Amino acid sequence: MNRTLLIIKPDVTERNLVGHVVSRLERARFRIVAMRLTRLSETDARRFYAVHEGKPFLSDLVRFMASGPCVPMVVEKENAVEDIRTLIGATDPAKAACGTVRNEIGRDIQMNSVHASDSDANAVKEIAFFFPEL
Ligand code: CMP
Repeated sequence: MNRTLLIIKPDVTERNLVGHVVSRLERARFRIVAMRLTRLSETDARRFYAVHEGKPFLSDLVRFMASGPCVPMVVEKENAVEDIRTLIGATDPAKAACGTVRNEIGRDIQMNSVHASDSDANAVKEIAFFFPEL
């Protein structure tokens, strides 16, 4: 068993699709360990995405992530980090495989509905960012 962090982004909360994403995760056998509704400040969003410092899309991304509520969650499953990335699909919804969450409901490369940790090491860091109590 291992754990990873998923964030349901503001484009999903705005369209009342949180339940849809949660259902996709549960049907794919992920167990929800923790989740909450929160609103990131721009400072927090920039801190979370510090790895993208210097990238041309960072300022827009930070504004978007702070534009409305999001739902960070910790999920658990065997091979969780890899399997969740398969389930959500490529960063750009237009390029994400058919049937993936981003292909299904993502709007564009920025408003791509969900974020998931890209490695076990980053999952540990990102879980601690939102859920230091775990
Ligand atoms: P996420 O998986 O949360 O990781 C970084 C985020 O930056 C990405 O999803 C998108 O929301 C956003 N983003 C915007 N433009 C780009 C881009 N050109 N390449 C990668 N990520 C981008």
